[in-house]
Amino acid sequence: MIKDLYLAAGCFWGTEHFFKQINGVTFTQVGFANGNTPNPTYKEVYTDTTGYAETVHLQYDPLKVSLSFLLQMYFKAIDPTSLNKQGEDQGTRYRTGIYYVDPYDLPFINLAMAEEAKKYGLPLCVEVMPLQNFYSAEEYHQDYLVKNPDGYCHLPIALFQYARNNQDTLTLNKSQQYQLLIKQFTALAAGETDTLALMANAAALIHETFHFWWTGYYRVVGDELVLGPFQGPVACMHIGFGKGVCGTSWKEDRTLLVPDVEAFPGHIACSAASRSEIVVPIHKNNQVVAVLDIDSQHLSTFDDCDQYYLQTLVQLLP
Ligand code: SME
Repeated sequence: MIKDLYLAAGCFWGTEHFFKQINGVTFTQVGFANGNTPNPTYKEVYTDTTGYAETVHLQYDPLKVSLSFLLQMYFKAIDPTSLNKQGEDQGTRYRTGIYYVDPYDLPFINLAMAEEAKKYGLPLCVEVMPLQNFYSAEEYHQDYLVKNPDGYCHLPIALFQYARNNQDTLTLNKSQQYQLLIKQFTALAAGETDTLALMANAAALIHETFHFWWTGYYRVVGDELVLGPFQGPVACMHIGFGKGVCGTSWKEDRTLLVPDVEAFPGHIACSAASRSEIVVPIHKNNQVVAVLDIDSQHLSTFDDCDQYYLQTLVQLLP
């Protein structure tokens, strides 16, 4: 199934180009929406007397990208507090609007609007309406920035890269999420030599992607493990060799998958909420120098898929 959405976001040249970059968007077309003259031309709309808004018609595959994600991206490309003006483009034809064709989309749109309004503490100038009419713009406006790479664009070029790099992870399976995470981490790690800084960002990426209860490191310092960068609640700071899951992973030099921490003899409970755990040793010169430890609030969270990708990830540390 393919779905339709119509977004007005100022000049449609940049807006179309922005949405074309998003994974899951299958078709884009620029045109004029919700005005009151038949078959409008660009020249007529330009007079700002026709009621039309420059609008991008999007088609997307909801199995690849959600409406909520598209709207999050939409808000990155507009100033929702600016009335009839985006960048230097002014007039009602440059107003911002979300025009829907599926009435079941409305609650998602209202939610996204409310979330966005909270950021500003003001009502937004974005109109939310059913699509009343839409006419395609002339051919030379379609894919304008593909045809004219140096053409006028009210959006910063960096936003196109941003749209390419940010996929909706909601619809990806675990393996695809890890693949994306590893791609992001590889980009962060390029040219970086500070292991601790990359450990911190890898923990942040894992946390952002999966929202596990606790994600972090213990580093080998002398004859014990000492807490390193992490995301999550306060944790114990020292763990002996062979103690707990972390110390055992170090001692046995292997990844440990613990489906139920209660059943692991000697498990160290830093947090009562933790129910299952994975610990991956990290090597330098064939020695264990640290472990990556992830805790989940649910039983049996981790499997060989987590093991495979987390082992791959820690090998990317310098
Ligand atoms: N449960 C770990 C201790 C570290 S916390 O989970 C953050 C263990 O048994 O080694």
